[in-house]
Amino acid sequence: MENKTWWKESVVYQIYPRSFKDTNGDGIGDLKGITEKLDYLKDLGVDVIWLSPVYQSPNDDNGYDISNYREIMAEFGTMGDWEELLSHIHNRGMKLMMDLVVNHSSDEHEWFQKSRESKDNPYRDYYIWRHARDGKEPNNWESIFSGSAWQYDDQTEEYYLHLFSKKQPDLNWENPKVREEVYDLMTFWLEKGIDGFRMDVINMISKVPGLPDGELREGKKYVSGAPFYMNGPRIHEFLQEMNQQVLSKYDIMTVGEMPGVDTIEAQAYTGADRNELNMVFQFEHMDLDSGPNEKWDVRPFKLQDLKQTFTKWQKGLEGTGWNSLYLNNHDQPRMVSRFADDGEYRVESAKMLATFLHMLQGTPYIYQGEELGMTNVQFESIDEYKDIETLNMFKEKVEAGVDPERVMQSIYAKGRDNARTPMQWDESENAGFTTGTPWLSVNPNYSEINAANQIGDPNSVFHYYKRLIELRKQHEIIVYGSYDLLLPDHPTIYSYTRTLVDEKVLVVLNFAKEYSLFTLPKDCSYKTQELLISNYDVDQNDSIKEIELKPYEARVYRLTT
Ligand code: GLC
Ligand code: CA
Repeated sequence: MENKTWWKESVVYQIYPRSFKDTNGDGIGDLKGITEKLDYLKDLGVDVIWLSPVYQSPNDDNGYDISNYREIMAEFGTMGDWEELLSHIHNRGMKLMMDLVVNHSSDEHEWFQKSRESKDNPYRDYYIWRHARDGKEPNNWESIFSGSAWQYDDQTEEYYLHLFSKKQPDLNWENPKVREEVYDLMTFWLEKGIDGFRMDVINMISKVPGLPDGELREGKKYVSGAPFYMNGPRIHEFLQEMNQQVLSKYDIMTVGEMPGVDTIEAQAYTGADRNELNMVFQFEHMDLDSGPNEKWDVRPFKLQDLKQTFTKWQKGLEGTGWNSLYLNNHDQPRMVSRFADDGEYRVESAKMLATFLHMLQGTPYIYQGEELGMTNVQFESIDEYKDIETLNMFKEKVEAGVDPERVMQSIYAKGRDNARTPMQWDESENAGFTTGTPWLSVNPNYSEINAANQIGDPNSVFHYYKRLIELRKQHEIIVYGSYDLLLPDHPTIYSYTRTLVDEKVLVVLNFAKEYSLFTLPKDCSYKTQELLISNYDVDQNDSIKEIELKPYEARVYRLTT
C-alpha cells in the first residue's frame, strides 16, 4: 500500500493567468480575475491551484522570464491583489502552488544587469559566460526556442548561455551564492503561506562541466545539448540541498517539470526516501506524435504507444515514486484535438480522455478550459500568433526555405498558443474574457463551447469532470489502487484495472470513432459490479463480459472480488 498524503489525494487545476479572466479591460487576464472565478473552481471541486508565473517580467516568454522574483507583474495587479487571492483560496479550503522558474531569469533581472557589466563583478558567476571558440559560439548547442543557445554580449566580449530565448539567460547553479538566492526567494513565498511549487525545467539546472558539444546531425549548425544538461551530474545533490534547506520545513507539494526523464530517474527524483520532490512532469507521452528530432515533425500517435508509455509509468513508479497525470498544459495542444476528436464527438472524446486520466494512479492536473472540452485553434496568419517558440520556429523554417503553409500546419497541430487562447466563459463578445481587445484572439468556437453553457447542463463536460473529481474523493482505490493493463494488443480499446485489497476498478475506453467490441478477459473474476461513471447512457446491469462500445465511449465499474 502506498503511503498516504494530501497531495496524492488532490486534483490540481492549472491557471495561465494571462488568458484566464481580465477585469480591467486591458485584454490581459489578472489576479482579480482569478479571485472572481474561485467559486467556479470550488464548484468544479479542485483542491490545488497551480498558477503559472505572476512575477515581474518583461514577458518575452509570458512570465517565464522573471526580472524580479519578489514582485508581482504590474499587468496582473499588485502584491495586495495576490495576498487577497491567496486568502480567498485558503478560505475556500483550496491550496495554491506557485511556479518557480530558476533554471534561468530574465536578462532584465538585476543580477544579470550586473553580471554583464564586467568580468570581475560579484554577479559575473551568477550566469554562464564563456569566451568565443574560433571566433564563434562556445559550443554547438541549439536553443529550445531556435538558433544558437549562446548570445554574444559586446560589453565584455563574451557569450552567455540561454537554453531558451536570449532574454532568458541560464543561472549558474554551480555557484553556491545562486543557490542561496534561490532558497531565499522560495522561503519568501513559503512564508507568505503558499502550499507548493511547480518547478520549471528543474532537471536542467546542472550542466556537465566543460559544456561538451552535442552530436552534430547532417545539415544542422546547432544541435540539442540535452545529454549535457538534462538530469546533469549534480542535479540530485542540488535538489536534496534545496529540500533540506527549504522544502522539508513546510507541508507542501512539489512537482518538477522534467523533459527527458525516464522512470528510473523519476524514482530517484520522487522516491519517498530520496528527499527531493513529490512528483515530476514527464514528457514521454507528449512525444508520441513527433518524429525523432523535433516536435514540429508531426505524425499521428498510435494507441499502442500510448498504452505502452502509460503502463510503463504506472508500473514504474508503483510504490517507488508518484506520478503526475496530464494530457495538456500551457505548452501543449489541447488534448481533445490531439488524442481524440474535436469535431463530431468532441464532448464524448473530452469525457473519455478525462476518464482515462482521472482513473490512473497519480495526481491529476486539469489545464484551464480542459473541463469545458476546449479545442485547438487555427489562425489564418502567423501575425496572429504570440508565442516566442512558435514565432522563432516559423522564421527559422521559412528562411531555410520550408513552405510557410506547411509550417502553419505544424503550428496548428503543436503550437503553444493552442492552449493559450482566452478561457471561454460565456457567449458574449470575446467569450466574456475581456471587455477590451484580448492579447491573443479567442477561439471562434466560444459561442458553442463556454462555461456558462455547461454549468447548468448535467450532461456537460464540466459536470463530468465534477463527477470524476468526486469519485476520487469517495473511493480510495482511485488514488491508491495498483494498475494493470488489460487487452494489451487491442487496436482501439484502452482498458485497465485498479486493485486495492478485495476491490477492483475496471476502466474501459474506446479510442476510436468506430464501434469497438470489448471482451472481459477470462481471469478477471468478480462478485458484484457497480457502474461508477460513463459518457453515454448505459444500463447499470448490462453484462460487462462483452460490451459493444460506441464512438469514444468510456465506462468505469467498481467490482468486488
Ligand atoms: C517550461 C515552461 C514553458 C517555458 C519554458 C522556459 O517548459 O512550461 O512555458 O517557455 O519552461 O521557461
Ligand atoms: Ca487585465
